[in-house]
Amino acid sequence: MDTSRIFENNKRWIAERLALDPDYFKKLAEGQSPEFLYIGCSDSRVSAEELMGLQPGEVFVHRNIANQVVATDNNINSVIQFAVERLRVKHIIVCGHYECGGVRAAMTQSDMGQLNSWLQNLRDVYRLHRHELNDIKDDRKRYDRLVELNVLEQCMNIIKIDHVQRSWSKSGYPKLYGWVFDLRTGRLIDLQLDMGKEFREVRAIYDLKPLNKPDQDQERRI
Ligand code: CO
Repeated sequence: MDTSRIFENNKRWIAERLALDPDYFKKLAEGQSPEFLYIGCSDSRVSAEELMGLQPGEVFVHRNIANQVVATDNNINSVIQFAVERLRVKHIIVCGHYECGGVRAAMTQSDMGQLNSWLQNLRDVYRLHRHELNDIKDDRKRYDRLVELNVLEQCMNIIKIDHVQRSWSKSGYPKLYGWVFDLRTGRLIDLQLDMGKEFREVRAIYDLKPLNKPDQDQERRI
């Protein structure tokens, strides 16, 4: 495919938008106040806005290989901080997907060069949950389960972030959600993670507030 097709698409898209609302781009240029931060995989088959049925301006998006939240990644840290402190998003969604190549690569013993350090985080997720995963004899089911556990662990990584914890103390937001996109069916699945419970279990380790000043409300609000 030639890139000229993309510019043709763009012209058509502008015409479609203006036909619906002549002020569409004027309004778009005025600013953004999305309620959602979506953290998903870079996979070309998993497009954030399209699968959620959301329009430009409705979701702040970060994508990387296998939807990782890495403490030393300045990129995602900046995205989360901006979304929480400036945009004041109400909801943070970590969305994995079945058939994820990054997750698959982390399940195999292969040297991936530059990707090795990135995939090491996924191997750590496997190690944390290896007993559950190794009990699953069916390859496909074990692979699917690692996709889900990876979403859980990336939500856990968001819990650990100082400005997220500060925002919970102040406003009770953002709420956290773990989802999986099943690209075999197109269905979006809510893993129904209880992040309040997860946080309570590890709070003594990750809570950045002094432990002698517990904020009871914080547990409720997550
Ligand atoms: Co993927």
